[in-house]
Amino acid sequence: MIKQIAAAVSMLAALGAPASAQEEMPYGEAEFLNSCAACHGERGMGDGPLASVLTTPPADLTRLSEGNKGAFPYYRVFSVIDGRYLVPGHGEREMPVWGQQFVEEDAKTYGPNGGELITTERIHELTSYIETLQR
Ligand code: HEC
Repeated sequence: MIKQIAAAVSMLAALGAPASAQEEMPYGEAEFLNSCAACHGERGMGDGPLASVLTTPPADLTRLSEGNKGAFPYYRVFSVIDGRYLVPGHGEREMPVWGQQFVEEDAKTYGPNGGELITTERIHELTSYIETLQR
């Protein structure tokens, strides 16, 4: 099982990208374009096509370091994306709870423990990708 999970984690690098783009496009970027760009925009600037229909504007993900004295707030970003362990704020969260969504998919393939590992890895890949978008 552990071996299978390790293989699956390394395979994540190739997931989601079309065959021809696989070598250039890391998993984090492919998943971002697939799941996040609709709201946050292709370059993460908060200008995706769905932005205009949301009550809360989607965050500009390129300015997270800027808003945190120049240091990328890695664990905050990680936990906002995951969303399962945040204390609910006032009003409704408009962003999907990705940890929940990913773990439901991943547990089908890897079981509850393996699924959790894969989900955690996916969120790390996304967080690292967002780190590369900082200006
Ligand atoms: C349906 C639209 C929508 C989608 C899709 C979406 N987001 Fe968001 N996101 C938002 C909104 C709106 C906010 C502002 C806060 C809130 O309402 O929760 C936000 C906030 C965030 C933040 C917090 C930024 C900060 O200031 O700390 C991060 C990080 C983030 N999104 C990452 C992602 C990632 C990664 C994905 C894809 C896996 C994604 N979002 C997909 C709408 C979306």
